[in-house]
Amino acid sequence: MPPFLILKRLQKSFADHMVLREISLEVEPGEVLVLLGPSGSGKTTLLRIIAGFEQPDEGQILVSDEEVTALPPEKRNFGMVFQHYALFPHLTVAGNVAFGLESRGVPREQRLSRVAEVLPLVDLEGFEDRRVQEISGGQQQRVALARALAPDPRLMLLDEPLSNLDPSLRERTRRELKNAIRRVGITAVWVTHEQEEAFDVGDRVALLNEGRLEQVGSPEALYLDPQSLFVAGFVGRASTLKGTLVAEGRVRLGDERFVGQGATWPVQMVGEVEVGQEAVISLRPEGLELVEAERPDTLVGEILERQYRGEVTYYRVSLEMGGELLVVGESDKASTGAKVGVALRQSEPAVRAFPSPEEESV
Ligand SMILES: Nc1ncnc2c1ncn2[C@@H]1O[C@H](COP(=O)(O)OP(=O)(O)OP(=O)(O)O)[C@@H](O)[C@H]1O
Ligand SMILES: [Mg+2]
Repeated sequence: MPPFLILKRLQKSFADHMVLREISLEVEPGEVLVLLGPSGSGKTTLLRIIAGFEQPDEGQILVSDEEVTALPPEKRNFGMVFQHYALFPHLTVAGNVAFGLESRGVPREQRLSRVAEVLPLVDLEGFEDRRVQEISGGQQQRVALARALAPDPRLMLLDEPLSNLDPSLRERTRRELKNAIRRVGITAVWVTHEQEEAFDVGDRVALLNEGRLEQVGSPEALYLDPQSLFVAGFVGRASTLKGTLVAEGRVRLGDERFVGQGATWPVQMVGEVEVGQEAVISLRPEGLELVEAERPDTLVGEILERQYRGEVTYYRVSLEMGGELLVVGESDKASTGAKVGVALRQSEPAVRAFPSPEEESV
């Protein structure tokens, strides 16, 4: 099947500030694509351009092979859910859900039957006559999704739909919104700055950084195979160390002057680095383990902090050669202040090495 939504080289500036650069992206029919990125990276601007509230300076938007770039929002037939519920407080749940239908001239009988169809999708059957102030924030956000679904849109756009909710409501509401979208089978673009949310709801995740797409892929691809240092650092927890490429696929960490304080580890290069050049190594905590300080090819350090998380314990290790590493270990593995070695776990699929930012910019 051809892609449902195609973004072609979209660019956008506000005054002389370039907010989106050459954004090209394809979304498959029925896919939930998450736009993830730090605050100010351009997520909302991109979503507003897709919706038609904002015009791109350059580039095109196609839906089912039809160009919609110049079409006003109301002609695109997209649904939207925003951060703020934006419900009408004086209307009932049913009144809110039917609102978009009324303004489209749908007769009352049909409006009521559509409300009855849509409410079960968001698990709000029987809530028709409730006033929106009387229901929880999570339920209000589900009403907002039901209202957006009611006119049967061809694409759903969601901008941080969970960020106004109490943390205790967020996970449940996330599941409800995600399930409703799946049940309907509608193609969706979902914006968030939270990686956990992105990984939970997205078939694929597009990571934005300063208006550029850093990487688009499945959550697994972003986590296990980051294509830039930014992706490695933004997605999941990672430590970075400097090293020198001593051979193809081997990096020396640490300084030769500190005898016994370095290690040469296998790495997977991402980008161009020549033998003898410096590289930045990104290491996942679960790819490392705490061992005796005397073992060869370990980095020696001291436990700075132990972070017990229940299902996992992190140890923050300050290395004698300089730098810090985050390492996963059993909860009783070591105490603060202990001298330890850090080794690569056997099971670790290659550690990633990226060109040093300084050398890259030369
Ligand atoms: N109407 C506007 N006029 C001028 N600058 C704008 C406008 N809208 C957005 N910007 C700027 O564009 C950049 C991207 O903003 P945007 O709201 O798209 O980011 P975001 O990724 O959604 O951030 P957040 O996570 O904080 O919501 C920011 O630097 C912002 O200040
Ligand atoms: Mg935003």
